[in-house]
Amino acid sequence: METLKVDLAERSYDIIFGDGILPRFGSFCRALALGENVMIITSSVIGNFYLEPLRRSLVDSGYNVHVCILPDGEEQKNSDTLHHVYDELLSAHLDRGAFIVAVGGGVVGDISGFAAATYLRGIPFLQVPTTLLAQVDSSVGGKTGINLQKGKNLIGAFYQPRLVFIDLATLDTLPDREYLSGLAEVVKYGVVADADFFNYIYDNSARVLIRDKESLLALEKRSCAIKASVVARDERESGLRAVLNFGHTIGHAIESLSGYKKYLHGEAVAIGMAQAARISEAMGHSAKADTDRIIRLLEMLHLPVELPYYSQENYLKAILRDKKVKDGSITFVLNKGIGNFSLVKISDLKAVLEKCGIGG
Ligand code: NAD
Ligand code: GLY
Repeated sequence: METLKVDLAERSYDIIFGDGILPRFGSFCRALALGENVMIITSSVIGNFYLEPLRRSLVDSGYNVHVCILPDGEEQKNSDTLHHVYDELLSAHLDRGAFIVAVGGGVVGDISGFAAATYLRGIPFLQVPTTLLAQVDSSVGGKTGINLQKGKNLIGAFYQPRLVFIDLATLDTLPDREYLSGLAEVVKYGVVADADFFNYIYDNSARVLIRDKESLLALEKRSCAIKASVVARDERESGLRAVLNFGHTIGHAIESLSGYKKYLHGEAVAIGMAQAARISEAMGHSAKADTDRIIRLLEMLHLPVELPYYSQENYLKAILRDKKVKDGSITFVLNKGIGNFSLVKISDLKAVLEKCGIGG
C-alpha cells in the first residue's frame, strides 16, 4: 500500500494506492474524523461488483451504512439524478455529521462530490474510483458537477474529497475500451509535464496494455503526483491548472460535434492531443519528431488519432463554445517538445485551423 498527499493546507488529503484493499476501507475512514452515518453512492453496474465488499468493510468498522444506486452512464449526470441523491440523503435522515462515499467512475464521482458540496451546505465525501480515468484524474483535485442540456459540467463546485482510495483490483472488471480511454489522460501527463514518464509509458506499452500491476501502479502514482502538484499550486484554475486540459479543447469539440455518443472522453482527448501536437509543431513550439512520437504512442495504446470529418466552420463554432474562450480569443495548451507546455492565446483560430488542415 502506498500513500501520496494532495497538499492544500486545511483541505489536504491522502491518495491511497493498493491492490485488493477494498476490505480495509472502513479502517481508513476510522482514521479520519468523520461521523457515524455514511451514504455509499454507486451505479447499478459498478455496484454489482464492488458495493458488497465496501459495505461490509464499513459495517465491520461500526458505521451505519446507507446505499444510493444511480442509473449508469454519462447521460445520467444530470439534475434529475442529483435530486435523486438529495432525496435519498433526506430519506435516510442524514445530517451534517454524515459523509458520502462515491464508488465508481468520473460520473458517479462528479455527481456525488457535487451532492456532498451542496447537501446541507456541505458534508464530507470520499472517493473510491473504479475506472482508470477516475483513478488518474477525476477523483483527484475537487472538480465536481453535473451536465446541462446546453453542455457538459456547466454546473459544479470545487470541493475536495477527504480521501481518495484506489484499489487497482477494481480495474480487473473494467471493459477494454474504458481502460484504453483512461490511458489517454495518462499520456497527457507525460506529454505536458514529464518526458521521463512519457518514455516510461512508451517503453512499457506492451505491459501497460495487459494491465500489468507493477506498470499500472507506476502510471497511477506518477499521474496522481503530477495532478496533485498542479492542483496544489492552482486549485481553482486561475492559470496553471489549464495545463490539464491539453488535448481537451479539440477533444471537447469532437465530443460535442459527434453528439457525445461516438467517442469516449479519452478517445476524443487522444485525437485532440494529436491535433494539439500538430498545432504546437506548426507554431514552432515542438519538432516533427515530437509530434510523431506522441502520435505513435497513442497508436501503440490503440487510441484514435485521426480527426473525424466536420466542416471547419463547425469545428470553429464548437471550439469557441469552450469555457476557455475570452473576448473571442482562446487559450490553447500546447506541448513544448515533450515534457513541457505553453499556454498560448490564439486570436485568429481560423488561420491556425487552416494551417494545420483541421476541418474540411
Ligand atoms: P464513467 O463514470 O461513465 O464510467 C465508464 C463506464 O465504466 C460506466 O458504464 C461504468 O459503469 C463502468 N465502470 C466503472 N468502473 C467499472 C469497473 N471497475 N468495472 C466495470 N465497469 C466499470 O466514465 P469515466 O470515464 O470514469 O468518467 C467520465 C466522467 O468523468 C465524465 O463525466 C467527465 O466529465 C468526468 N471527468 C471529471 C473530471 C474531474 O476532474 N472531476 C476529470 C475528467 C473527467
Ligand atoms: N481534469 C482537469 C482538471 O481536473 O482540472
